[in-house]
Amino acid sequence: MDLEPIVSEAQRAFAAASDAAALENEKARFLGKTGQLTELLKGLGKLDPEARKSEGARINAAKQQIEAALQARRQALNDALLNARLAAEAIDVTLPGRGPSRGSLHPVLTTWERVEQIFRSIGFDVADGPEIETDWFNFTALNSPENHPARSMQDTFYVEGNDDDGKPLLLRTHTSPMQVRYARMNKPPIKVIAPGRTYRVDSDATHSPMFHQVEGLWIAEDISFADLKGVYTDFLRKFFERDDIQVRFRPSYFPFTEPSAEIDMAFESGKNAGKWLEISGSGQVHPSVVRNMGLDPERYIGFAFGSGLERLAMLRYGVQDLRLFYENDLRFLRQFM
Ligand code: FA5
Ligand code: MG
Repeated sequence: MDLEPIVSEAQRAFAAASDAAALENEKARFLGKTGQLTELLKGLGKLDPEARKSEGARINAAKQQIEAALQARRQALNDALLNARLAAEAIDVTLPGRGPSRGSLHPVLTTWERVEQIFRSIGFDVADGPEIETDWFNFTALNSPENHPARSMQDTFYVEGNDDDGKPLLLRTHTSPMQVRYARMNKPPIKVIAPGRTYRVDSDATHSPMFHQVEGLWIAEDISFADLKGVYTDFLRKFFERDDIQVRFRPSYFPFTEPSAEIDMAFESGKNAGKWLEISGSGQVHPSVVRNMGLDPERYIGFAFGSGLERLAMLRYGVQDLRLFYENDLRFLRQFM
């Protein structure tokens, strides 16, 4: 029997198989249990030994050719599959890279840096203090009576643990404790600002539970409220880069200053245009506080202020709701890039 047509039929069928499954089906037609070549091999038993030997060798040679064709086609199909995947997943290394997106400073931090820069330029030192404060520095040293509502759980974030006096520790509710901390470590005359984070149980369009204040303290022998007013107004003119700012000093009360004033500024634009926004507390440092600083109130006069950095940023950029600073909405933040 001529085996050549079977071999060439197998080669043709394998070459025509377009994927692995089709190829395995074709393989069964020749090499499977009932495949053409298998049947021929089964028939060998009926032949006499001489013929069986020569026929067997011929059939086996044909079988090897078919297996070789099968193996070659399997390899070709695998290669084609791999090439298709490589093409599909190809990366064009000649494209320009995306690179990291450009970041920028948060508007409150820009405000912080600006305030520092201005006060440094008029001779103020810049100091830094702890955000976790003792009851004494945050309240008692500042002449706040034991039962003052600012100490209550509604206003203040207390943290676990006590200070050396067994009094509770808290997240500072203002930067004013820095007045006493700094004055105890430095000799007058003192001119310092202390910017930083402060915390209160507060949240609305002009209040956030975490916010920033900048404390200012000026202690000397021969200054008056006029100096505080002059320095602060000068600061605002520099900060807003204009001379025609609308500011008012409104009489107020703080336990640690006497007299006291709150400082308001008017919104220039937006839905609040013309409305006043409080930016700062201020006043002449109370004699008891001067004493807690380790200084003689008969000799030294101190002026202090504590301003909200978010409030200054609101007025400078025309932001109508303070909480926008802390929503981390990129559409908002990108406006300050
Ligand atoms: C004080 O905190 C005083 N320590 C300020 C002071 C310092 C008075 C030195 C006298 C001498 P007041 O509670 O008003 O005062 O806060 C000061 C400023 O912080 C406010 O005018 C406002 O600008 C800002 N502020 C207060 N609470 C918040 C808040 N929850 N979110 C954002 N800003 C706030
Ligand atoms: Mg106030």
